[in-house]
Amino acid sequence: MAETNSLTMDKPVEASLLDSGAQGVIGKPLARIDGPRKVSGSATYAAEYPTEKLAYGYLVRAPVGSGTLTGIDAAAAKAMPGVIDVIHDFEGFIRNAQQGGETDAPTMGVRAIAYVGEPVAIVVAESYEAARDAAGQVRVAIDEGVGDYGFDERLGEAEKPADAMIPAHDAKGDLDRAMAEAEVTIDATYTTPSQNSAAMEPHASIASWTADGLVLWGAYQMPSSDKLQLADALGLEPDQVRIVAPYIGGGFGSKLGIAPESVAAAIASKKLGRPVKAVMTRPQVFEATVRRSNTRQRVRLAAGRDGTLTGIGHETIVSNLEGEDFFEPAGLATHFLYAGANRTITHDIVRVNRVLSGSMRAPGEAVGMLALENAMDELAEKLEIDPVELRKRNEPDKDPSKDIPYSARSLTQCLDEGARAFGWADRNRTPGKACDGAWLIGQGMAAAARSNMLQPSQARVLLTADGVVVETDMTDIGTGTYTILAQIAGELLGMPIERIDVRLGDTDFPPGAGSGGSWGAGSSGSSVYLACEHIRAGIAAKLGVAPNALTLKDGEAIADNRRTPFADIVGDGIEAVGCIEPGDMEEKFNQASYGAHFCEVAVHAVTGEVRVRRWLSTFAAGRILNEQTARSQCIGGVTFGIGAALTEDLIHDPRDGKVVNRDLAEYHLPVHADVPHIDIRFLEERDTKANPLHAKGIGELGISGAGAAVTNAIYNATGVRVRDYPATLDKLL
Ligand code: MOS
Repeated sequence: MAETNSLTMDKPVEASLLDSGAQGVIGKPLARIDGPRKVSGSATYAAEYPTEKLAYGYLVRAPVGSGTLTGIDAAAAKAMPGVIDVIHDFEGFIRNAQQGGETDAPTMGVRAIAYVGEPVAIVVAESYEAARDAAGQVRVAIDEGVGDYGFDERLGEAEKPADAMIPAHDAKGDLDRAMAEAEVTIDATYTTPSQNSAAMEPHASIASWTADGLVLWGAYQMPSSDKLQLADALGLEPDQVRIVAPYIGGGFGSKLGIAPESVAAAIASKKLGRPVKAVMTRPQVFEATVRRSNTRQRVRLAAGRDGTLTGIGHETIVSNLEGEDFFEPAGLATHFLYAGANRTITHDIVRVNRVLSGSMRAPGEAVGMLALENAMDELAEKLEIDPVELRKRNEPDKDPSKDIPYSARSLTQCLDEGARAFGWADRNRTPGKACDGAWLIGQGMAAAARSNMLQPSQARVLLTADGVVVETDMTDIGTGTYTILAQIAGELLGMPIERIDVRLGDTDFPPGAGSGGSWGAGSSGSSVYLACEHIRAGIAAKLGVAPNALTLKDGEAIADNRRTPFADIVGDGIEAVGCIEPGDMEEKFNQASYGAHFCEVAVHAVTGEVRVRRWLSTFAAGRILNEQTARSQCIGGVTFGIGAALTEDLIHDPRDGKVVNRDLAEYHLPVHADVPHIDIRFLEERDTKANPLHAKGIGELGISGAGAAVTNAIYNATGVRVRDYPATLDKLL
């Protein structure tokens, strides 16, 4: 058995072994090591596993959004050629689950339909086409009820959710009084629509049973907790479920918890004694996986003439299904971004018959900062203070909500460096005064902030004379996990990158953090770090030197002016398991990554069309583990921000709750032609409170605040303040 090296983050780790940089690979802009496998088609995604006797499943879904299921008539479907069975005798319906280990959601023992498109049965056939065809012939009988489909008209019924990861309601001081006494105030309401993660790979599973239980090839971000959910949904013990997910075509939150197709495929496969594949269609992804909730956000700012904030209010209302406690935590960054003694931050939920709302990239900041950073721009305008300067004047010296210090915070540096590099000082300050032909030109900026978290994570590392093997059930959802874990192991064990074999996404490996909440790199990277630290200590002991007197480079151990090849040290190999646990460092120190976005837009004076012309963002997120994959994460985040600002809008029909735009033709994501070159700059920072890598999360940082920079630039171009996202052209005319 490999020995385990555990660390609980209950004190700072002042020195990081990565600081030596002896191997010279950490931080480097290495192209992703899984890239060739992806472009050559040898990377196998969930729906692509070759399986003998595979049968094809197609979900049948509720045609109405509210009511009671009274029966399913599958006779006609079963009589169709190639159809094997229509399975609907599971308890109730298959719901999506939120992230996390516990759930009663996937199979609810109820027959109440919660939303249009809720899966109620699965047709299994010898081909996908036969299953799809037959699904159209299944008659779903529902005693239709009166659904709650609208949001605006039911704001008065908003209720406080049960406390979850963050408090739903939080107040300090007296905001009303601060507003009454302030020299300058802003009191504005912002709205954002529902959104869909729209990952390129749709949700997909292949289920197969062995004597030991279920094997599920699935597109899941968090195999170690998804396994628990799946076991729970199917009435199995956790060790009877194995999830395999080495490659995932994007998730953005929609694959954090299990989705209906996995449960349906598993049930069907068990019943039929054959492997069953279920792949969601694009409309099914839009209608039956988690959405980001729409929001209504009232922001109040109380300030002195000099721009000093005395009060901040961020009162938000979101929507979700009855009985679900998740709320889009839109006020998350408002807790700690700016100073101000009087603060009120609330989240309430309106219950609607719309698909489950859950996490989507930067749940909270992504839409909360659209409102907050837009309001800050309004305040800057009213005060006639430069918006960069206004933010700097409200730089707190500690977390103003919790009264605790920051771990490392470089917001001011990000603002200054971004303003300098963008040429912010040269901008036109009067809205509507800069033109380029028929286009009005404007510049805008916004701050970025995203909380940093650590999650329990384990990894096993084996060093042999020839190379290194890293194993953990952590995933790579397109983020670069394979590459950064190889860099960490390569750096610490002195091995060239091409000799590091990183194996991910299989619950037979030690349980990892999973990809979520921007904690993947820090958490899984720390577990690899700890395993490597243990292996280094073993080598040092064999050579009779102190661990810190040891240098490992290019397959050799260097100590006391002696070079010893690994072949002479490691024998059959040295193996160790690294285990990181979050301690109380997140309670003792506010941890977050920061940044600043600057952009230029052109708004057509006649049509209202908006083009983003120029973009520059600065970020500080602790140690950057790979400058290229980190940059790609930030570019992706900013692109999401442009989508949130200009186009993304998941529309629910107020009459029946149907998703109106349920494909990529109608749900408008930014495409290449909509996105200019995005200039990303990282600032040097180390965060000793975060983890032994001194690195913080980056996956969700780019989206945070980005969309507000766009609407602030639109204001600068046109004088039109858009508070209802997205800023489609009808709102600019
Ligand atoms: Mo993220 S929304 O935690 O994948």
